[in-house]
Amino acid sequence: MKEEYICRCEEVTRKEIEEAIADGATTLAGIKRRTRAGMGLCQGRTCQRLITQMLANVKDKAEITPPTSRPPVRAIKIGEIVEGEDE
Ligand code: FES
Repeated sequence: MKEEYICRCEEVTRKEIEEAIADGATTLAGIKRRTRAGMGLCQGRTCQRLITQMLANVKDKAEITPPTSRPPVRAIKIGEIVEGEDE
């Protein structure tokens, strides 16, 4: 049977997410910690909605809260902070 990827960035399958839910994950953050779904390049923009739908099968959708957002960071030179340079 062909695998169905829910999180394409981290290559997490539907089966892995179902196993995480069966293992006790009841939040998006819990699924993220168990499977890495949502930690990829798009930071969950693609997969979060699908995972929310899967979680809604086992708990009230109103109780599903979005995971903590951590925007990507990049290293900058001290001079950029001090001088206010842009780049
Ligand atoms: S598809 Fe899941 S993090 Fe991008």
